[in-house]
Amino acid sequence: MKIDVIPVYGRVLSHHISSSTVIAVDVLRSTSCIITAVGNGANRVVPAIDPGEAAMLAGRLGHADVVLAGERDAVKLPDFDIGNSPSEYSANTVKDRSVIISTTNGTAAIHGMSAAKDVLIGGMINRSAVAKRAVELGNDIIIVCAGTYGQISADDLLAAGSIAEAINRLSPSGIDASDITMVCCMLYADWKQGRADLSVTKHCARLISLGFEEDIRYCFSEDITDVVPVYENGVIR
Ligand code: MLT
Repeated sequence: MKIDVIPVYGRVLSHHISSSTVIAVDVLRSTSCIITAVGNGANRVVPAIDPGEAAMLAGRLGHADVVLAGERDAVKLPDFDIGNSPSEYSANTVKDRSVIISTTNGTAAIHGMSAAKDVLIGGMINRSAVAKRAVELGNDIIIVCAGTYGQISADDLLAAGSIAEAINRLSPSGIDASDITMVCCMLYADWKQGRADLSVTKHCARLISLGFEEDIRYCFSEDITDVVPVYENGVIR
């Protein structure tokens, strides 16, 4: 089984992913929020590319059953119900409701994966569960990172390494890892041993400056849920 990491979703072409299982990752913070929402009983999560599309979808579904969620530059959108902090996706808020979410990079990244055989939503909070599901599907695996405004984001590479390490552990016949996958695993190993401080990297530093340290701590917690959301026909369940 081959395993590759694409560090920024905009570099993905349909033919790269058409015969593979994609694990979409925006660890800080949108895929961590989506996993949390599904785990807390959301009926479905609909990723919208932009706030206008999100508001239009919410209007069509009727506000009573909908939670309108999203951010730009990590700040909650005006007139939206919630932003992009995992703590906002509690059962109280999302259970039995549809979450329509638009984030700066993460939701566009998920959208762009429609051509893949299967699309799983991954993070560190579900890393072993998403790895197990991907291995069971039996296809080659591509971990696609959202990145930030077209740039590589170190937090996503860390999460890719964390998931790739779990895939390696769970694959009976071993994996054929690309060089970038190995680099992500090296970053992850350094981070595990306290040698890589991600707080200095751009997206982490921005979140810290806005007071979101607790979100980072949560999103970097490993294996706290077995929930593996699947993206299919425009909807995540
Ligand atoms: C994104 O989609 O770029 C992120 O989830 C941004 C954030 O941390 O709010």
